[in-house]
Amino acid sequence: MNNTCIVGIDVGTSGVKVLALDQTGQILSSIVESYPLYQPQTGWTEQDPSDWWTATVKALKAMMQTLGDFQIAAIGLSGQMHGMVALDSSNRVVRRAILWNDQRTGPQCEAITEAAGGLTELLKLTNNQMLTGYTGGKIAWLKAIEPDNYAKTVLVINPKDYIRFRLSGALCTDVSDASGFGFYDVANNVWSDSLIAKAGLKRSLFPEVVESGAITGQVTLEAATETSLPQGIPVVGGGGDAVISTTGLGLIKPGRVAVTLGTSGVVAMGLPRFMDNPQGSLQVFRGNAPDTFTAMGVTLAAAGSYHWFRNALGRYESAVGKEQGVSAFKLLDDEAAAVAAGSDGLIFMPYLNGERCPINDSNARGGFVGLTSQHEMGHFARAVLEGVAFSMRQVYELIKSENGDLMASGEVVLAGGGAASDLWRQIFADVFNMPVRTVYGSAEGGSFGAALVAGVAVGVWPSLEATVLLIKPESETQPIAAHVARYEQAYATYCKLYDALKWI
Ligand code: XUL
Repeated sequence: MNNTCIVGIDVGTSGVKVLALDQTGQILSSIVESYPLYQPQTGWTEQDPSDWWTATVKALKAMMQTLGDFQIAAIGLSGQMHGMVALDSSNRVVRRAILWNDQRTGPQCEAITEAAGGLTELLKLTNNQMLTGYTGGKIAWLKAIEPDNYAKTVLVINPKDYIRFRLSGALCTDVSDASGFGFYDVANNVWSDSLIAKAGLKRSLFPEVVESGAITGQVTLEAATETSLPQGIPVVGGGGDAVISTTGLGLIKPGRVAVTLGTSGVVAMGLPRFMDNPQGSLQVFRGNAPDTFTAMGVTLAAAGSYHWFRNALGRYESAVGKEQGVSAFKLLDDEAAAVAAGSDGLIFMPYLNGERCPINDSNARGGFVGLTSQHEMGHFARAVLEGVAFSMRQVYELIKSENGDLMASGEVVLAGGGAASDLWRQIFADVFNMPVRTVYGSAEGGSFGAALVAGVAVGVWPSLEATVLLIKPESETQPIAAHVARYEQAYATYCKLYDALKWI
């Protein structure tokens, strides 16, 4: 059986990642295929589910060519959370998916909260605020703004669930993604029928919910023909990326926090039991093992801020990078590394798509503050990296203030594509004043965790706890005292900026 491998698919915002792991947890293959993001209006973000599928097919085909004698035991799924994929009675997609960082549903989220009887009553039903990112507000938006599309819709699922459907024909979601609808009674592990009724939505739109480790179907002949996968491979429940990435880092118990630098930035901690979310300031969702939970907070534009920066202002670096065969991010990092910690007073606020935590404001906007004629490109690049770290430290402080007793270790495990940057790891160590570690597979995002969960589901590993032993430390970055002091000051200034500029 040592030629067994497990595949994890992560339907991200910038692209899909397909990864294959062997039984020792070694990565055999990791392939990314990107797809477009549509922004038809300020604050709106959409993707076409058929683009996800086309990219997944392409990546799976490429992966199959690399696997040689390896036999795939199972496929696990991860994906950007909260995206609304609306299906009609023939399982066709009704409109482009509305994504997790879309901000159009403010009025609907307020109306749902009011219908629940206010925030306190809403929290009693779901233990979560109705954030504009969540799937639930999008369904209400569809009903209010596109009634024809609402009438056609018979089921709503999330992005990874659409890939499940195309692979296996099964239509369901898992407990972690269900939590991210904002209509899930997280404590009792069921849809909140009462909230759905109060909000005036059709109950039948909400999909069947399975545990992350449930086998939900097998690869069909049609999908096998399209993807080159063998027919009949089990497809496993999986989970939302923010939750399953944390599982993939081995952080299924409290103690250490995971900081994931994907398009969004997630600060998360695994919980062995339900946790009240009295102000609703965190997201408390179901975890990937039965009766486990994850507490987290999200900065909407983390690596997404650096991507924006490269596209908008880093054209020179992009052109030079292309010529030299180096990534533009590496060139921007080099310029940023030449600037002193604190970017000589230049501070960046990453609210490019509004913000979710600890500031919950879909109208928040980004900015550079403190600009002088001394500042050059490297200052801007460094300020972006630092601003994201400041924002995520705020989320960390919030989790700590609510769960300090569970945070034993005083270290951060950094993950996601951004964790590959030496400079960004140092900035996080300095801003958090804690050692920052990475582990093997931590740059792979949700695909690594999805593969682990799938492997457990088919008996490759006995339990998620057992998979923790497969996760090997990779790097450790210690804070530099002189930087820590400088960042304490800059962080204090950063914390004042939102309130100071809010009314502008
Ligand atoms: C989590 C969230 C984001 C997306 C990004 O609540 O909104 O992390 O899942 O992919």
